[in-house]
Amino acid sequence: MQHRLRFFASCAGLACLLGCGSNSSAVSQSIASLRAVARPSGRTVGAAISASRLDDAVYAAAAREFSTTTPENELKWGPVEPEPGVFSFDGADRILALAAENDMRMRGHTLVWHSQLPDWVKAISDRDELIAVIERHINEVVGRYRGRIYAWDVVNEAFTDWRGPPMGQTERPPEFDPHLRGTHPSDTDPMYADLNAGTNGLDSVFGRVIGPEYVELAFRLAHAADPNALLFINDFNAEGLGAKSDALYRFVSDLKAAGVPIDGVGLQMHISAETMGDRTTANIVQNMQRLADLGLQIHITEFDVSLCGTLSLEERRTLQTNRWREIAEACVNQPACTAITTWGIADPNSWRDRECSVGAERSEPLLFDLNYQRKPVYGTFAAALQHDPVPAAATQH
Ligand code: G3I
Repeated sequence: MQHRLRFFASCAGLACLLGCGSNSSAVSQSIASLRAVARPSGRTVGAAISASRLDDAVYAAAAREFSTTTPENELKWGPVEPEPGVFSFDGADRILALAAENDMRMRGHTLVWHSQLPDWVKAISDRDELIAVIERHINEVVGRYRGRIYAWDVVNEAFTDWRGPPMGQTERPPEFDPHLRGTHPSDTDPMYADLNAGTNGLDSVFGRVIGPEYVELAFRLAHAADPNALLFINDFNAEGLGAKSDALYRFVSDLKAAGVPIDGVGLQMHISAETMGDRTTANIVQNMQRLADLGLQIHITEFDVSLCGTLSLEERRTLQTNRWREIAEACVNQPACTAITTWGIADPNSWRDRECSVGAERSEPLLFDLNYQRKPVYGTFAAALQHDPVPAAATQH
């Protein structure tokens, strides 16, 4: 309670906490750190970190605002095991050192993902060989960080995603119904070759060569390699209520029923100010609740809010601010939601900053500006993290 009184005292008034007017900027500057404001809620607040930027002292200082880190790319299969059995942990170790020196926890991202995967893995067509390769990879990576990485995105983006008509089609073909990538006969249809050449295709060597059971296999291997690590399945566009989140919900229900050691669902939360689709805040709250009812934790793993859209800039900034606030509040109001991670620190380094199709507009999806200074929306987010939090569920086994 005392922390909140101190926080209020540093503001011009309650209204400034909930709005984004000129006071928000002052609020942003008056906060000790995000980790400090989030601590009483029992939630961690994290950021994706790039090892290559850590030499920049201002970046490193901003990184220390957070209570957890996630390596943005350094633990993906491509960087970690570029050649069979040849592992490179330099980047991840640098981030882990930052975490250890600053009493931060680290999330691991990610063990099994069809993307950022070396060609030698993609080329495997023998089921037993691929299983052995997954086993070596997970044993090596999770085993190395046993006790030091507290949560893993074991399987990432396993489900297909409908993003508009491919190949001149105007309607969603039935084969695009959300399913585990690579497990439907048409996932490798030459008709979808262009789609599969990108990062968001239908195919996955894991689903195609092993079948759906690769997911269970990955979780069991990760659990054996570090029985204390929290294990997550992580996906995008599955935050609200819709075909994809339904498919993911059914899938994790089955995993739980089968006794697979899964602790939670990672909701990436790459959302937009203007366009919500089925990811309204109300839907996200409901989806979190049904996952919580399964006994699962929820981590918001890759939070960012794009400003792109067609409304006036002022309207979109208001909507963007609202989204940061509403999602943070959704998490602190849900005991099973125990962690919020933003996907990066500063706008210009974000993978989304250049996604607007209109002129030179930037999407400005994060909490810090070009100079790693706190933006006004930082104050809104920080205030929301303190907004009458419901106690968090336990974050360890
Ligand atoms: O490090 C190499 C560098 O050596 C090389 O010269 C350069 C040339 O392209 O590429 C560099 O690697 C890039 C890497 O980021 C590090 O900057 C890759 O090309 C680039 O593809 C990669 O992008 C990452 C993307 O995942 C890949 O899919 C983004 O940084 C990263 O933010 C993004 O993160 C994903 C999550 O893992 C999963 N969810 C979606 C999210 C956004 O796409």
